[in-house]
Amino acid sequence: MKKSIIEIKGVKKAYKDVEVLKGVDFEVEQGGIFALLGSNGAGKTTMIRIMTTLLKADKGSTQINGFDIEKNPSEIRSCISLTGQFVAIDELLTGGENLQMIAKLRHIKNPNVVAEELINRFGMSEAADRRVGTYSGGMKRRIDIAMSLVGNPKIIFLDEPTTGLDPESRLEVWKIVKELSASGTTVFLTTQYLEEAEQLADKIAILHGGKIIALDTLEGLKKLFPPAKVEYVEKQPTLEEIFLTIIGKKGEK
Ligand SMILES: Nc1ncnc2c1ncn2[C@@H]1O[C@H](COP(=O)(O)OP(=O)(O)O)[C@@H](O)[C@H]1O
Ligand SMILES: [Mg+2]
Repeated sequence: MKKSIIEIKGVKKAYKDVEVLKGVDFEVEQGGIFALLGSNGAGKTTMIRIMTTLLKADKGSTQINGFDIEKNPSEIRSCISLTGQFVAIDELLTGGENLQMIAKLRHIKNPNVVAEELINRFGMSEAADRRVGTYSGGMKRRIDIAMSLVGNPKIIFLDEPTTGLDPESRLEVWKIVKELSASGTTVFLTTQYLEEAEQLADKIAILHGGKIIALDTLEGLKKLFPPAKVEYVEKQPTLEEIFLTIIGKKGEK
């Protein structure tokens, strides 16, 4: 068993008297891509905000990279990055300027060099000198993710990285996420798209009703369901069927 880089135990969070997280438990191994899957409003962003020190949980413990979120939030902040659900870049600046700005904010020694490296790595040299306002949705996401890599974080949190993107841009983001993971960064992403989890994730956790109701590899999740034999053809359930069955909505669609 690999070392866990994230350990969540009994995390609860309510907004006023609405309990959103009702005792969330899970662990994320170092390296690889972990997907937190859940419908709109399931509490994915809330969980991400807790893990990235932006929001305090009411109960439970959160350990990131060996640090406790209550005791060592700044150590945690220095080894993670977060790309939010909504793109957070300055549209009036060029892609290159956005990267340089972040590098300066993070007190990186050679902001221009770091910006240029990321521009090349993300295959954006042609767009680097154009204002971000002229970029496509996929390109904005790409520069957004590039920005989160300034300073080489150990863990990158991506909150719904492809929501609202067209299919082509989505493929583009998937490719980047795979490359990130291949370079050794642990990727934690949330998604409401089953196909996205299916395509990208080494481990999938399903958040529903305020709890993690399943956590496994895609293969493991598929094993929960004996293949239905139709003559000689084995039918594998899709992640969508698994998801709907687990949350008890089979047939409601
Ligand atoms: N600041 C807030 N105040 C009150 N309710 C909130 C707040 N943030 C989120 N919620 C509610 O908590 C629930 C979970 O939200 P969220 O974590 O954003 O879910 P998800 O990211 O899975 O769509 C939703 O019902 C949402 O309306
Ligand atoms: Mg969200």
